[in-house]
Amino acid sequence: MPAVEVRRLTEPWTLGGVEIPNRVALAPLAGIGNWFVRLQARRHGAGLVVSEMVSSFAIHHRNTRTCTELLRIHPDEHPVSVQLFGHDPDVMESAAERVAAAGADLIDINMGCPVPKVCKTGSGAALLADPDRAVAVARAAGRGSGLPVTVKLRSGARPGELGGIRVARRLAEEGVVAGICLHPRHASQRHSGRPDYDLARELVEDLPVPVVISGGLRTAELARAAFERTGAAGVALARGSLGNPWLFAQVLGERDDDPGREEVLAELDWLIDRAAEHLGRERAARYLRKFYPWYLTRLGGDRSLQDALQRADTLERARDLLGLS
Ligand SMILES: Cc1cc2nc3c(=O)[nH]c(=O)nc-3n(C[C@H](O)[C@H](O)[C@H](O)COP(=O)(O)O)c2cc1C
Repeated sequence: MPAVEVRRLTEPWTLGGVEIPNRVALAPLAGIGNWFVRLQARRHGAGLVVSEMVSSFAIHHRNTRTCTELLRIHPDEHPVSVQLFGHDPDVMESAAERVAAAGADLIDINMGCPVPKVCKTGSGAALLADPDRAVAVARAAGRGSGLPVTVKLRSGARPGELGGIRVARRLAEEGVVAGICLHPRHASQRHSGRPDYDLARELVEDLPVPVVISGGLRTAELARAAFERTGAAGVALARGSLGNPWLFAQVLGERDDDPGREEVLAELDWLIDRAAEHLGRERAARYLRKFYPWYLTRLGGDRSLQDALQRADTLERARDLLGLS
């Protein structure tokens, strides 16, 4: 009987020559995936972390906040991919050069964002309707940076359309990308609806480059099942990891249990310190308000604690409320 190949999420692999210790990645998350969220994912086992999407135009024009905050990379988070969005190949080339100088290991291009503000400029999922431009933009990122380039895309713009699959094929067959991250939902579905893992499997079997899948991977069981069903090179965790970095270790089979109260509080403590380091205490106090509800669901906090944390205007006040002082 032929040996059955058992694929494991814990196996190392290479993406465009970059060594990645396992097959569980942190997906790009706009407004969230900064260096300390990525570092947190790495601490909990992620093999590869991807930044929130960053505007190629803002980098090209040397926007200070973009270049100092969004391109900040921590020495312990490698391998790290910086995701860029944009529609202009020259601008992308220039931005990619700056991203390489910032220390990224890979560049990912966003061709999946369905938000009108992004699409109306011709970026994000709008590129799926313009394959020549999509190829030119991705090629320019490689030229500017000298780094391996991947593209994250949707299956298409609307149900029944497969523009994303066609663009993925061209990018891979023309040797423009080292890999593809497929979110097998249509852009019009935004983030709801069932991901089409069978379509993902077809792409995995078809493409000469590794395909990572994203979408619907909320639990370890769902992530493992999607990895098996699609045959993908890896899985990228997104919403399931919000306030739940323990999901990385669970998907990797390194732990089964959920974190206890002390562990969750210790994680919040770490997060508050890192946010202060990144943004200064005043901005961090506001920035962290979006993070608290994700963690509080694990602490069984009542509504009044949630509300008080949303009003906390200093980190000291937030620490007091959480009993971390
Ligand atoms: C708040 C939020 C921000 C996101 N930001 C990005 C982004 O910057 N770039 C990107 O390619 N995808 C982005 N996505 C899509 C995710 O990376 C992921 O593909 C999607 O959420 C599906 O995975 P899930 O169902 O496991 O959450 C975002 C999703 C959410 C919910």
